Amino acid sequence: MRVLFVTSEVCSLAKTGGLADVSRALPIALKKQDIDVRLLLPGYPSALAQVERPRAIARLAPLLGISDATLVVGRLPNSDVPVFLIDSPSLYRREGGLYLRSDGQEWADNALRFAFLSHVGAELAMERTCLGWQPDVVHANDWHTGLLPLLLSREGGARPKTVFTVHNMAFQGNFSPEILPAIGVPTDCFLSGNIEYYGQASFLKAGLCYGDRLTTVSPTYAKEVITPEFGCGLDGLLRTRSASFSGILNGIDDASWDPASDPYLPHLFRTGDIGGKKICKAELQREFGLPVRADAPLIGFVSRLTHQKMADVILDALPLIVERDAQFVLLGQGNPELEKDFVEAQAKYPGHVAAHIAYDEALAHRLQAGSDILLAPARYEPCGLTQLYALRYGTLPVVRRTGGLADTVVDTSAATIIDRTATGFVFDNANLISLITALDRALACYMEPLIWRRLQAQAMRQDFSWRSSAAQYAAYYNDLAGAPVPRLRYHVPSEDSALQSVRQAAS
Ligand code: ADP
Ligand code: GLC
Repeated sequence: MRVLFVTSEVCSLAKTGGLADVSRALPIALKKQDIDVRLLLPGYPSALAQVERPRAIARLAPLLGISDATLVVGRLPNSDVPVFLIDSPSLYRREGGLYLRSDGQEWADNALRFAFLSHVGAELAMERTCLGWQPDVVHANDWHTGLLPLLLSREGGARPKTVFTVHNMAFQGNFSPEILPAIGVPTDCFLSGNIEYYGQASFLKAGLCYGDRLTTVSPTYAKEVITPEFGCGLDGLLRTRSASFSGILNGIDDASWDPASDPYLPHLFRTGDIGGKKICKAELQREFGLPVRADAPLIGFVSRLTHQKMADVILDALPLIVERDAQFVLLGQGNPELEKDFVEAQAKYPGHVAAHIAYDEALAHRLQAGSDILLAPARYEPCGLTQLYALRYGTLPVVRRTGGLADTVVDTSAATIIDRTATGFVFDNANLISLITALDRALACYMEPLIWRRLQAQAMRQDFSWRSSAAQYAAYYNDLAGAPVPRLRYHVPSEDSALQSVRQAAS
C-alpha cells in the first residue's frame, strides 16, 4: 500500500498547531503498519533547513504560471518517513508565517500557494513526475489541500483514491471565484454549486465534495459537524456524504511526548515514580518568574489565543484563580487584543499570573510537565491534543464537553474515582461559571493528595498512541484501493441565492 500524505504543516519542519503534530505522528504510525507513506508539503524555509538529507530530484514543469519549482526529497527528522518538499522560492521562501505575513494579514496569494500544492500532489499521484513511485491512495488534509481530490476526480481512467481529513471546519479557504481560471480549477465546479460557498469558491468544500472518503479527527466532532451549530455552513453537504464520512480519534506521538524520556524536561518522571514532576513544577515556576511554592496549585494553559479556545473566558477567570491562591502560567499567541490583556493581567497579579506570548515547542513540553492542572476549554474542539499531552504528563485537564475533548477526558465524580476511570474535569457550558465550577472541583481534589495521586496515575495510564487509529486509516486505504473508481460526481444543490446571481452573470 503506497500513500501520499499531503499537508500544509508537519512537526518539526513547520508548525502552527495540531495539524503538524498529526502530520508527523500518523505517517510514522502508518509506516509501522507496513504502509509506504510519503509526505508532500510546501518548501518553507524552516522545512528546507530542517529536513534530513535533502536532495533535489526533479525540476517541475511550469504550472499555474509558476516556473521556479523544484521537488526536493528528504527524511522527516528522526523517522524513516520520506518527505517531498516543493521548493518554489516565489511561493514559499519568505520571511513570515506559513499562512500569515509578519503583520498578521493573510498572504495575498494564499489561493495560488495552496492550489499549487494540490496541483503538484496531483502530478505526483498520476506519476507525471516520473519518479517511479505512484501512490494507491492520496490522503489530503484541511482546506490547503482541498483541491487535490477535485483535481484527481477529473482524471480519466485509473487514478489513486482520495481520503480527505478535515481538522477544523472553521478554516475553509474561501476565495473569489474570479481566481478559478488562474488556479487551474474549471469553473463548472463552481457553477454546479459543488465548491460554491455563499458566492465564494471554497477549497474546504472541494475536499468534502470530491474526496472518496472523508474523515474528521474525533467521533464526537463527526456527529457535531453534521448539525448547523458546528457545521460552519457545510453541515448540509456532510449530511449528503454521511455514508463516506466518519470520525477517527487522533493519537499522540508517544515518543516525542513521554515524560520518561522528554529531552526538554529538567527532570524525568514516569507512572509509579512521579517525584520528578515536583522538580519540573519548581523549575517552571522559576522560569515564569513566579514564587516557587509546592503548595500552590499551578494551572497551565498552552494554546492559540482565540475565541475557539475560550481564551477570553480564561482571562475573565484570572481574578478568581488569584482569589483561590493558585498560580496561572500561559504560553500562547494569537489575537493581539488577548495577548495584550494577558500581559496586563501578569502586571496586575504579580506572583500569581505569568504570561509568555510566544510560540515555543520546548516550553510547551515543560509547561505540560510542570503544571498540576491544564486548562483546555473550547467552544468547539475537533480533537485537541494538549489535553492528551497533559494526561500523559500527569497534569489533570479541565475541558469542555465538546468534540475530541468529550471523547478523551472522563469527568471526576465519586463513582469514577472509585472505579478508577476518572482522568480530568469536564464542564458543559461555554461560560465563566461553568469553567470555574469545574476548576473548583479540580482544586478540591488537589487538596486531597491521595485522590490526586490516584487521578494522576489513572491519567498517565491512558493509551492515546496512534496504534488503533492508524489501523483504522489503513483499513480505509485498503478498502478504497480495492474499490472501482467512483462514477458519481457529487452534485450539491445550493440554497444560496448568491449562486443564482453568479449563474445568471455567467450565462
Ligand atoms: P489546535 O491545533 O486547534 O491549535 P491542538 O490541541 O490540536 O489545537 O494542538 C495544538 C498544538 O500546538 C499542540 O502541540 C500544542 O502544544 C501546540 N501549541 C499551541 N500553542 C503553542 C505555543 N504558543 N507554543 C508552543 N506550542 C504551542
Ligand atoms: C485542528 C483542531 C484540533 C485538532 C488538530 C489536529 O487544529 O483545531 O482540535 O486536534 O486540528 O487534528
